[in-house]
Amino acid sequence: MNKVSILGAGSWGTALAILLANNGHEVTLWSILEAEVEMLNTHREQIDKLPGVKLPANITITTDLEVSCKDKDLIVFAVASPYVRSTAKLAVPFIKENQIVVNVAKGIEDSTLDTLSDILNEELNNADVAVLSGPSHAEEVSHGIPTTVVVGAQSKATAYFIQDIFMSEKFRVYTSPDIIGIELGGSIKNVIALAAGIADGLGFGDNTKAALMTRGIAEISRLGIAMGGKIETFAGLSGVGDLIVTCTSKHSRNRTAGYLIGKGYTMNEAMDEVKQIVEGVYSAKAAYALAKKHDIPMPIVEQINLVLFENKPAKEAVDDLLTRDKRREYSDLKWNK
Ligand SMILES: NC(=O)c1ccc[n+]([C@@H]2O[C@H](COP(=O)([O-])OP(=O)(O)OC[C@H]3O[C@@H](n4cnc5c(N)ncnc54)[C@H](O)[C@@H]3O)[C@@H](O)[C@H]2O)c1
Repeated sequence: MNKVSILGAGSWGTALAILLANNGHEVTLWSILEAEVEMLNTHREQIDKLPGVKLPANITITTDLEVSCKDKDLIVFAVASPYVRSTAKLAVPFIKENQIVVNVAKGIEDSTLDTLSDILNEELNNADVAVLSGPSHAEEVSHGIPTTVVVGAQSKATAYFIQDIFMSEKFRVYTSPDIIGIELGGSIKNVIALAAGIADGLGFGDNTKAALMTRGIAEISRLGIAMGGKIETFAGLSGVGDLIVTCTSKHSRNRTAGYLIGKGYTMNEAMDEVKQIVEGVYSAKAAYALAKKHDIPMPIVEQINLVLFENKPAKEAVDDLLTRDKRREYSDLKWNK
């Protein structure tokens, strides 16, 4: 049994709290939002986001960050990505040196182009920062639906420690040393999910979505490899695995926002309708800036930026993608003749 704290009590933080409590750990679930903590304590249920799933008794729910961060074996960052830095700044006085921390949020800070592990490394004194990602909708994990994820850490010992804490018969955890590859796959797939949703909203078919997903992972891999990620990671759970689930699922808020944009909503109207943070919008800007910085062609990310931020009609963006110059599928593959 370990003492685990989860910062962020939205869908994912709560689903992981339930998983870890069922694994026998002593779990503290923190939120900055008093109304959220009150609702969770009153109903022992995330009634808005995970209706019908009760929280086990061995979860303490609090707004007290000191209680949440002191003397923990593991701290899980599960706030939405725009709040990772501010939460780390609030938590740092209570976090010990070499604290093992695992980030489960997905995003890139658009103002700095930092990944979320970069942020935690900057803000937390000498913490041992890991990431956990993969095709894992909170709604399904909270119902014990079989799920697989990957943990990326700097050392094998930390990766194995986190693997042991999360692993259950229904939640299978793999390990990897490729933190940057895991993070880039997990965040930029949200941009491709916006594109997949737009294609659905425009009334296109499965062929179009498969094309966006396949060419999407190709451009994520190009950028990721230029930034130090490994090709295998982009073919793995946090790469193509998460891309598939996000582009096809009814649970994906990024795909839903894209769908509404395809139906003619503006970006802001779509975000209002979805009512939760659409992280792909932030990651789109960051991914495009990273593509320019590393001189990597990312045509889908580029077109999504034009649609989101320059009011380019979605149909025109699709036409422009299809009428680009002729290309080889993979320029590294050589002809025999
Ligand atoms: N929902 C999923 O299925 C899922 C699965 C894997 C990863 N993730 C990732 O986990 C992260 C959280 O997702 P979610 O679905 O739980 O989001 P959510 O919108 O349900 O919850 C976000 C939570 O962030 C916290 N928060 C809100 N404002 C805050 C602030 N100003 N400062 C600090 N904390 C604040 C609150 O506890 C809120 O409930 C995201 O990065 C998401 O991509 C989500």
